[in-house]
Amino acid sequence: MALLHSFTGHLCATIDGNNRNGNAANRRGPRGTDRHDRAAATIANEEATMKKSLGAESIIFPNPVLVVGTYDITGKANAVTLAWGGIACSNPPAVSIAVRPSRHSHEALVRTKAFTVNLPSVEQAAYADYFGIVSGRDVDKFRATGLTPVRGERVDAPYIEEFPYNLECKVTHSLELGTHTLFIGEVVDVKIDQTYVDENGKASWEAARLLSFDSRGRLYRAPGEVVADAYSVGRRWMAR
Ligand SMILES: Cc1cc2nc3c(=O)[nH]c(=O)nc-3n(C[C@H](O)[C@H](O)[C@H](O)COP(=O)(O)O)c2cc1C
Repeated sequence: MALLHSFTGHLCATIDGNNRNGNAANRRGPRGTDRHDRAAATIANEEATMKKSLGAESIIFPNPVLVVGTYDITGKANAVTLAWGGIACSNPPAVSIAVRPSRHSHEALVRTKAFTVNLPSVEQAAYADYFGIVSGRDVDKFRATGLTPVRGERVDAPYIEEFPYNLECKVTHSLELGTHTLFIGEVVDVKIDQTYVDENGKASWEAARLLSFDSRGRLYRAPGEVVADAYSVGRRWMAR
């Protein structure tokens, strides 16, 4: 209990930059206001649960590194690195990507209603980074990197030959959310480098060692260790 009190006392000091009995209450808002009540409720919650509130933020960890291919208005192949995206639906198979309207790729997504998602391996982190720090408005990213854009078979968008996985997608929905437009793409084909297909014809994530992104640390990360079997390890609490 003593430990709990000293921990929560430290939390309060950290949250307010002051201790609980000092002038901090003024900074949290005058007594009786909504702001004061919310701050007091947050502190009460933290004391009760040992949780620290970080406020409202869109954080999930890890994020995939998605390199999204499109053709721009001049017909030039372009690709952009996106970490805000993921699986959206199993049937029909669909993925989501969130793109700021200022990106050169945004115009192409709206116009062509097509894109590819290319998943880089950990060895390809520098390519993925480059695609995320320069704009196709200013440079030809494929020419600069020497990577190969291949015309999609099912959609009007290029995929990246050298990346292990390529998804061909048709935009089915788009939604303005605020800073980003959320595009939903129905996956009409998935291609995988044959190197990563095992003797049973199954694609192996492990062999491809796909890159992921840590938004908090602004780091690229490698896949981690296997910790348990999914749909299985949690069975211990199911009725027998
Ligand atoms: C790791 C990483 C993740 C990124 N994620 C996103 C994202 O989810 N959405 C977005 O709009 N921009 C994102 N960006 C920024 C774009 O990739 C960047 O602005 C790019 O230069 C735009 O290229 P374009 O103008 O050719 O479309 C990310 C950049 C990096 C390096």
